[in-house]
Amino acid sequence: MVEVQEATATGSPVRAYNEWDPLEEVIVGIVDGAHFPPYDDVTRAPLSPAQREVFRERAGRPFPADEIARARDELEQLVDILEGFGVIVRRPDPRDHGLEFGAPGWSSTGLYDAMPRDLLLVIGDEIIESPMAWRSRYFASSAFRPLLKEYFRAGARWTAAPRPELSDELYVEGWTDQPEGEPFRSVITEFEPTFDAADFMRCGRDIFAQRSHVTNKMGIEWLRRHLGDEYQVHVVELNDDHPMHIDASLVPLAPGKLLIHPQRVVDVPTHFKDWEVRKAPEPVIPDHHPLYMTSKWINMNVLMLDETHMVVEADDVPMQKFAESWGITPVPCPFRWFNSFGGSFHCATTDVRRRGELQCYF
Ligand code: NVA
Repeated sequence: MVEVQEATATGSPVRAYNEWDPLEEVIVGIVDGAHFPPYDDVTRAPLSPAQREVFRERAGRPFPADEIARARDELEQLVDILEGFGVIVRRPDPRDHGLEFGAPGWSSTGLYDAMPRDLLLVIGDEIIESPMAWRSRYFASSAFRPLLKEYFRAGARWTAAPRPELSDELYVEGWTDQPEGEPFRSVITEFEPTFDAADFMRCGRDIFAQRSHVTNKMGIEWLRRHLGDEYQVHVVELNDDHPMHIDASLVPLAPGKLLIHPQRVVDVPTHFKDWEVRKAPEPVIPDHHPLYMTSKWINMNVLMLDETHMVVEADDVPMQKFAESWGITPVPCPFRWFNSFGGSFHCATTDVRRRGELQCYF
């Protein structure tokens, strides 16, 4: 007890208000032990038809060992780059995602610990565990609990959103894709609050959220009430047929600089009216390269080290040139094989601490 009180007096090791303040400490995910999850509607919904086939065939099996090895090597290179910039890097320990677990009414095997962004939401000095809608991710935060406890002991506020039951009532029975041109039809109901942290983008006092196949209205409302009057949570309408995670659609890079997906952001949220808004360059990921869970627009999933340094894929020359043309120095890192697992630099990280204050940018 004494130890905890003393640590608290030194201030929180968790503190980040936006996507661009100078990065001081970050969690970087791991691909070890990654498995395809059991195949069900909620897993199927955000995928393309071809991706659905792969998930169906490989359900419950490990990801290819050679691809894990390549992605692991890229993650090591990312860690070296971050440390070279003076950032403290933390990693979870590997675990076996082939193990079965469950709750009353269901059982599942796991996915991976590759994308801490999906589940850990840092807002100010608080780190929030998301109530994830995928059964395979029910224990997703377990890998990060040693770190969360450490941050708590050192003064962070640590919260888990209401633990979802993930019973059948959460999932739309007989779900099918919305027909072309019709409004988004989510695979999840409003049975209980669920969200993934990666469906939120932080711009100081304003936080932008999207409804998706994992984030429902109740989940967004839970976060809104939890954060209280200090923050405004805005729901944005994006033109994404298979929405899951906002960070390849609407990506604030720095105050006054918003990167958008050329087709998904039809109406830029009015908040950004005084910002410069630029469309992302076309991705250059070759057609033959496996992307198990995302579109090629994962090229937009960049990580800002500060307002003028962007970690960007080493082969993505158009994105590097784009950054330079906007006064941002690209910091290249090979990450193609990591991309295969469903994310890039933003997904692979949770920024634990950025040096800055809570501000309004609009
Ligand atoms: N669902 C997005 C990726 C989000 C990181 C996409 O496939 O483009």
